[in-house]
Amino acid sequence: MEPAEAFDVLIIGSGAAGLSLALELPAHLQVAVISKSRLQEGCTLYAQGGISSVTHPEDSFASHIEDTLDAGVGLNNPEAVRYAIEAAPAAIKQLVKIGVPFTRHPEADQKQQFHLTREGGHSARRVLHSADATGKAIEDTLINQAQQRNNISLFEHHICVDLITGAKLGLDQNRCLGAYVLDRKEKHVKVFAARFVVLATGGASKVYLYTSNPDTSSGDGIAMAWRAGCRVANMEFNQFHPTCLYHPKAKSFLISEAVRGEGGRLLLPNGEPFMERFDHRGDLAPRDIVARAIDHEMKRLGLEYVLLDISHKPAPFIREHFPTIYARCRELGYDMALKPIPVVPAAHYTCGGVVTDLRARTDIPGLYAIGEVACTGMHGANRMASNSLLECVVFAHVASMDIQEQLDTVAAPPPLPPWDESRVRDSDEEVVVTHNWDELRRCMWNYVGIVRTNKRLERASRRVQLLLQEIQEYYSNFTISGDLLELRNLAQVAELIIRSAQQRKESRGLHYTLDYPETDTSRPPRDTVLVPHTFREEAATRHLASQ
Ligand code: FAD
Ligand code: SIN
Repeated sequence: MEPAEAFDVLIIGSGAAGLSLALELPAHLQVAVISKSRLQEGCTLYAQGGISSVTHPEDSFASHIEDTLDAGVGLNNPEAVRYAIEAAPAAIKQLVKIGVPFTRHPEADQKQQFHLTREGGHSARRVLHSADATGKAIEDTLINQAQQRNNISLFEHHICVDLITGAKLGLDQNRCLGAYVLDRKEKHVKVFAARFVVLATGGASKVYLYTSNPDTSSGDGIAMAWRAGCRVANMEFNQFHPTCLYHPKAKSFLISEAVRGEGGRLLLPNGEPFMERFDHRGDLAPRDIVARAIDHEMKRLGLEYVLLDISHKPAPFIREHFPTIYARCRELGYDMALKPIPVVPAAHYTCGGVVTDLRARTDIPGLYAIGEVACTGMHGANRMASNSLLECVVFAHVASMDIQEQLDTVAAPPPLPPWDESRVRDSDEEVVVTHNWDELRRCMWNYVGIVRTNKRLERASRRVQLLLQEIQEYYSNFTISGDLLELRNLAQVAELIIRSAQQRKESRGLHYTLDYPETDTSRPPRDTVLVPHTFREEAATRHLASQ
């Protein structure tokens, strides 16, 4: 029997959340970071606009908090919001210290070192950025730092299959003890044992046919936590970014909201601006409002896209502020300095996720969730732009603090059983996986998108139940592959999204349904919390105890 790889902390995911945590943990701990693709790959790498923090003397925490709560339409956890926003300046200092090259203010003085841009929902300029490739600047810096640390072992092309818990092994104490991990190159499932396990696996926007996200966003962490017995919440709040480039050859390339922050305008094909008809904040209204307005106009006029125009700004300004976007558009035949570009909404961010407390703890002792995989309550019914990278870094910090406080009381896990493949064989029909991927994502796009109805959700539910059954059969009979694992997770997440959407009998934030078009103001807003059957009693008890 091959011995398990043993670590103090196992971090699943190498984006802003996972790597920030790895670097926060003390050097005497042995830390593993596993990443299912190459180390860099994940949403963080593609983040454009920036990271929000109050740094301008005329801005205030109160204003950042108010904007975040306003975007979240009454569902944010005010404590999580306050904590993240007040912790932001220190987090930014730390990122600067390790070398993240934020764009500097052209007339840097002691008051304002960095250039601040603006995005939807923010009432002030408060977004630090590295031109229009902030995520790459952060990800590359974090990787560089992690590679220099002797206590951090980095495992690329390793995909976590499932968590190992005391409950699954029939032990008295339910604690997360490690994970089964498929080494994609060796095609072999390894056992990773750890005293603490952290999900930093990102979101699930790949569940939709059109998305700004890379392939890694298949909701693996949410599905694994759910199967292990954790609650998930607010899965109906899928954020659609209003402006992805419309081009057959570009896989939903994002056009940052910062383009509108710097003066870009949304136009109909006849050149008419339309956002003021929907919200007094116009092009810089929160994302749910802008995406819905575009969807409305596209359906009303039978359009394939709307236009985004920043061509009234000087070309050098555009090239300096948006070098990546400008270059990509040029490659595809559009010069945004000369003409408006075609844009459409696409799935962008998962506001719900694994329920955590303010110390990033999930329902299972020893298991944490940080970054987009988690539902800390920070974003409520709609995340405000550039608050996600912020959430990743500040909650990585709290997870690190909590783990350090518990070090003395948590021993290494007992020996863990190896992965059992004795009852499966190689698939003779891999194409089924591809077909199901496509069917699932198309179904979610058609029936569980920007505008929902009871009928559409019922239709989606029936199809997804069938897919889940087929995938489960396939999973039970055939040797696993990365694609199959992702499909299984996506289907599980789709089911959770549909179920959550069906439970919300109102429209709020990102969840808009024609059957209940109004926001229910007759009672206090409520989170949609789903509790797995396997864990119902224990989860409820722990939740109450931890409040
Ligand atoms: P990710 O960065 O997505 O990393 C997830 C990691 O988990 C990856 O390493 C992945 O390989 C790994 N993983 C997943 N499943 C498994 C598994 N089963 N086994 C092993 N590893 C696994 N937010 C902002 O705040 N500001 C912005 O300007 C901004 N711009 C954006 C632009 C784009 C195009 C996109 C897509 C998102 C943007 N966002 C932005 C959102 C933000 O980038 C993400 O929410 C954030 O980066 C998530 O970080 P994370 O560490 O939680 O996950
Ligand atoms: C963008 O640059 O528009 C994305 C910002 C975000 O998702 O926070």
